[in-house]
Amino acid sequence: MAQYNVLTTLKENISLTRREACQVVGMLGLSFSAFGALCQNAFAKSIQISRGKTAMNLPPPVLDGNTSLEKAIKQRRTIRSFANKPLSLQQFSQILWAAQGITEDGGFKRAAPSAGALYPVDVYAVVGNNGVEDLDSGVYHYDPSSHSIKRTAHGDKRKDVAIASLRQAWMATAPVLFVVTAQYSRITVKYDDRGIRYAMIEAGHVGQNILLQCQALGLAAGIVGAFYDSKVAKAINAPRDHEPLIIMPAGCKG
Ligand SMILES: Cc1cc2nc3c(=O)[nH]c(=O)nc-3n(C[C@H](O)[C@H](O)[C@H](O)COP(=O)(O)O)c2cc1C
Repeated sequence: MAQYNVLTTLKENISLTRREACQVVGMLGLSFSAFGALCQNAFAKSIQISRGKTAMNLPPPVLDGNTSLEKAIKQRRTIRSFANKPLSLQQFSQILWAAQGITEDGGFKRAAPSAGALYPVDVYAVVGNNGVEDLDSGVYHYDPSSHSIKRTAHGDKRKDVAIASLRQAWMATAPVLFVVTAQYSRITVKYDDRGIRYAMIEAGHVGQNILLQCQALGLAAGIVGAFYDSKVAKAINAPRDHEPLIIMPAGCKG
């Protein structure tokens, strides 16, 4: 009965914020995995409503999985071929959460460590045509605090990013390219020039989280460091001081 009420509430009131929904779940004593499963239909409805809009909430992450960390580390490889199949919105959400999601209950700390908890890193998702189920192609910026995305560019920009990456054509076949950027001023304010090193180290942590999360979900992912920074920044329509550091193509295994 309680679960039915949660589902009904979410379906009827899809503008419920994630924090509010979590409070409801907490009050009813539901586990987060049960909450995740219950919400899928409700969020699927919100996706349709969000089509054509510039921002949307993502389904909550699932906090348990079938693959051990050890297996994910053992099996991970850079993969450069992908099936012609979209990621589900749940998979897309899960990867963004693993990259930069808030993991501290009621707090602000994230999945990847950050020197001084200053978080100079951002994640953009370059979504191709039919790259994510029920999501328009475009470039989306991930907001960890609300676990939501906001569109920064319209249309399929994968080819532009692949060309900017020394014409690594395989990249344009990945349904999604996750671009990890750094805004150094957020961290050099405390650590001066050393903050640049810290931001780059942090981006590496984010990249490994993406690779291991994809491995754990049975997905394929790679990493690219060879690209012209300014051309990639232009393709994703990032602010001038968000410097691209790594690009992580991801999708279903080919
Ligand atoms: C910083 C960095 C940059 C990389 N750049 C590229 C790249 O531009 N293109 C590419 O195909 N692979 C790139 N790779 C992937 C490496 O080729 C790959 O990690 C290496 O061959 C080891 O294979 P594995 O990742 O499957 O263990 C990069 C890896 C790292 C860590």
